[in-house]
Amino acid sequence: MKHAETEYLRGLAKKHISPVSTRVTDLVIRRAKGVRFWTADGSEYIDFVSGVASNGLGHAHESMVKAIQEQAEDLIHFGLNYGYYESVVKLSEKIAQIAPGNLETVFFSNSGGEAIDGAIKMARAVTGRPGIIAFDGSFHGRTLGATSVTGSSSKYRTSYEPLLGEVYHATYPYPGLLKGDVPKDMTSYSLSQIESLFELRISPERVAAILIEPVMGEGGYYPAPIEFLQGLREIADKHGILLIFDEVQTGFGRTGKMFASEHSGVVPDILVLAKALSGGMPLGAIVASRALHEKWPTGAHGSTFGGNPVSCAAALASIDVIETENLVKRSEWLGKKIVNRLKANLQKYRDIKEIRGVGMMIGIEFQPDVASRIVPAIKEKCLERHLLIMSCGVNGQTIRLMLPLNIIEEDMEEGLTILESAIGELM
Ligand SMILES: Cc1ncc(COP(=O)(O)O)c(C=O)c1O
Repeated sequence: MKHAETEYLRGLAKKHISPVSTRVTDLVIRRAKGVRFWTADGSEYIDFVSGVASNGLGHAHESMVKAIQEQAEDLIHFGLNYGYYESVVKLSEKIAQIAPGNLETVFFSNSGGEAIDGAIKMARAVTGRPGIIAFDGSFHGRTLGATSVTGSSSKYRTSYEPLLGEVYHATYPYPGLLKGDVPKDMTSYSLSQIESLFELRISPERVAAILIEPVMGEGGYYPAPIEFLQGLREIADKHGILLIFDEVQTGFGRTGKMFASEHSGVVPDILVLAKALSGGMPLGAIVASRALHEKWPTGAHGSTFGGNPVSCAAALASIDVIETENLVKRSEWLGKKIVNRLKANLQKYRDIKEIRGVGMMIGIEFQPDVASRIVPAIKEKCLERHLLIMSCGVNGQTIRLMLPLNIIEEDMEEGLTILESAIGELM
């Protein structure tokens, strides 16, 4: 009976759900709790993907479920243009409290890509300049604006050209993106690339914003050096350019700080948030100073569902748990513990190039000549053993681990043991 239901739902999905999105598994999911999920067949799995770093507290955290239920009883949707409501107001205040520097005012959207589009519009509107500098290897989402600034795979861009004009890509200081010789000092090299753009392509007075993920996500789980981010801040200040940090994936404790920007002490002009902001409900945010938001002409941007009451209530509950359970600190020490364990057990394999982590944003990068063969095989073996993992990077060369910040250590050990044995058997 259960098997019949699985086949029935899978059959309907194959007919009615667009095949455009990459299909990672054909599992039919019934329920999920914490780091575990169960299929319609009743099989149990461990989830090291966490809704692509969205379920920071794992699945169905009781505080979030309660907040969502209570909010849904009172108000599901209204439209922020037509009135204020408690959850959105309190969430904007909370974001202002935890965001770095003077970033105290929020525009809410429904997703990361949408928030990136809004941030590009905001930067152009408030500076009156057209240019946007983004980075090769970066991923910012699937809307047309976000696709235009994305540089992590040509397949995301192909078929949609011409994309947004006046977007220029510079080199992210991640050696794994370069073919051939790697410069000794990636930071200076990448900063000089921006100066070259100014000389050869667009004068700095025409640049509205520099947009960067402080730790590269989809492109390879690689942190930008602190001096590089500080260098970007200097360049931006010198030329009146806005610095935008895409913290869609790095936000809310994932990197062992509430926001990855805190590692460098660099305060961006615009902070873009989504994913773990609301622990799995659709929500994005563009956070900037009051002064900057006030320069964005009224009516120049908007959203029907952005900041909807239920997503905001979920976000407030999620942030409250992150704060009261000290999950940011936990992410820092547990991330180190995981990386140390993985290094102790896996570094001996020559096919592994690097094991690295910033808090609980952890990557295992394989050598480029073997990655496209080995990484899919590891993912398959893990899935056979009921562990869901994901890779990233231009050639999928890095396995990325996105464990919930509050994962129980025994669950973590169980999942890591499956992963390590799958890797070991394929080396
Ligand atoms: C850094 C970053 N920015 C933007 C996005 C796009 O977010 P969404 O899928 O919510 O549109 C993602 C999604 O993976 C991301 O990792």
